[in-house]
Order: sequence, then structure tokens, then C-alpha cells
Amino acid sequence: MNLKGLLKEKLSEKEMGDFRGSFEIIGNIAILEIPQTLYKKRKLIAEALLRLHKSIETVCMKADERKGKLRLRKIIAIIGRKTETIHTEYGCKFFLDLKKTYFSPRELTERQRIASLVKKGEEVLVMFAGIGPFAIQIAKRQPLVKRIVAVELNKNAFDYMKKNIELNKVQDKIEAIHGDVRKICPKYKNKFNRIVMPLPLHGHDYLDMAINCLKKKGIIHFYSTGHESDPYSETIRLFEKACKKKKAKLKILSKTMALPYAPRVWKVCVDAQLRK
Ligand SMILES: C[S@@+](CC[C@H](N)C(=O)[O-])C[C@H]1O[C@@H](n2cnc3c(N)ncnc32)[C@H](O)[C@@H]1O
Repeated sequence: MNLKGLLKEKLSEKEMGDFRGSFEIIGNIAILEIPQTLYKKRKLIAEALLRLHKSIETVCMKADERKGKLRLRKIIAIIGRKTETIHTEYGCKFFLDLKKTYFSPRELTERQRIASLVKKGEEVLVMFAGIGPFAIQIAKRQPLVKRIVAVELNKNAFDYMKKNIELNKVQDKIEAIHGDVRKICPKYKNKFNRIVMPLPLHGHDYLDMAINCLKKKGIIHFYSTGHESDPYSETIRLFEKACKKKKAKLKILSKTMALPYAPRVWKVCVDAQLRK
């Protein structure tokens, strides 16, 4: 039985209509999406979720959308207070605090897709690295990668990334750097075979920086968003504009609708090789 099924007897027909039954599980913490109309029923809903997932210790709810440069969101505790946990995906362990860092468990397949493309001997830059999930999945999937540089602005996320690198025993492959991509990356001119840019809303502001850091014929994985009716046109336009400015030639290798981002809007990724 699913969560909505468990609540059928306890909520009115109108309340059942308002509640989508959606939640995310990160480690042993569940995060519910509860509409304003059902706020007073949050404890009842959280208890039902605990009956469904016995390993959950904390249940909380999203209080708003992600905001600001660090992409954090407010969380309201319902059962338990702990927001620090260890999440496992594809055999990697990620230690994090969901109040202080960005992490989305739904992006695991996209991270694995990128990791599966990395070849031996490559030097990889992960911009906007968060608690390290792209860098660590890459290091685990391609142990013969030469090195991975992972840059993150949020000091809390950076500290967790350092711990995660140790937890996953990939210290010899990943160098974590705390700071703004714009300040850190100029010293890496023409250094990387591959650059991952997982910042869908403002990533295009950093394309010039990524192009500078890329070796000849290097590959960029550029994330943005697009409406389902035409998911890629705007992303490709931004990518082409930045390449033109830098006199680089863009060869699109693939396009991916990675995840739903908002109603009828997708997080998309365009993978392209650049000739400089
Ligand atoms: C959408 S999250 C992605 C995090 C991580 N790559 C993941 O998949 O979980 C974007 C991250 O970029 C960081 N960030 C935003 N602007 C940045 C900048 N100028 N330089 C470095 N990191 C930045 C934020 O703190 C946040 O952790």
C-alpha cells in the first residue's frame, strides 16, 4: 500500500484531492510535500509515512522552494529534529545536512550517466560540486580517471564533501576546493578534458569560465531548464552564444531531459565537444 492508500480512511475526499502523496527519502530522513490546506494534518501524515518506511527516523516537510546562490530551502520538522544523515546511491555514501546543503536523491541516474562517460586518464572539473555526488560517482565508476577538481561555494557543503571523499576512499582522485568558481577557475586554463556544470538556473553565466578551463576538444555537460514543449532550444542558444564569444566551435553530442524541474519544465543537459 502507498501513503495515499494508508491515509484514505483518515482524510476527507477534499483533503485526499489536495494531497499528492509525494515525498523524498534522504538517508533515514523523509521530506514530505504537504499543501497549506493540510498543514494541521502534518503529524497524522508523517505517522502514516513512518508505518510505511520503518527505517525512517526523522520526518519533515518542505516549507518553501530552494532559494539564493546556495540553493537551500527551509524545512519544518514534524517527527524528530535530526537533519544530518548518510545517503547511499550506486554504492557511494553521502554524509549531509539537508538544512545546510543542497542534495537531491532524484538526480542519481543523471550522475551515473555522466560518470559512465568518463574515460581513463581524463582530468575532470566539477563546478558547483555541492557535497560531492558527481565527483564521487565519477571517481568510483572510473577509478582510472587522472584527477577530479570539485569547486563549491557553500562552506557547509564543502566540509561535507571533504568528509564524503574520505568516506568513499577517493582522496587520491578528488581535490575539493572551497570558493566561487569565478575566482577559483581562472588558474586552470586549458586544463580539463571534461567539465560538469550542474547549476541549471545561472550556469550560463559561467560558460566563459568553463570554456577557458577546457582542453582542445574537451567536453562540457551544461545544465539548464526548458519547457517540455521545446526543452533544448534556449539551452543550445545560450551555449552557442558563449562559444561564439570565445571563438570556440560547438559540436552537440547528446541532449538529455534529466528530471522534472517544475510543472511542465525540465532540468536538461546538453553534452557538447568544443574545438578551441
Ligand atoms: C544545484 S546545486 C548542485 C550541487 C551538486 N552538484 C549536486 O548535484 O548535488 C548547486 C551548487 O552550486 C553551489 N554554487 C552556486 N554558485 C556557485 C559559485 N559561483 N561557485 C561555486 N559554487 C557555487 C551552491 O552552493 C550549490 O551547492
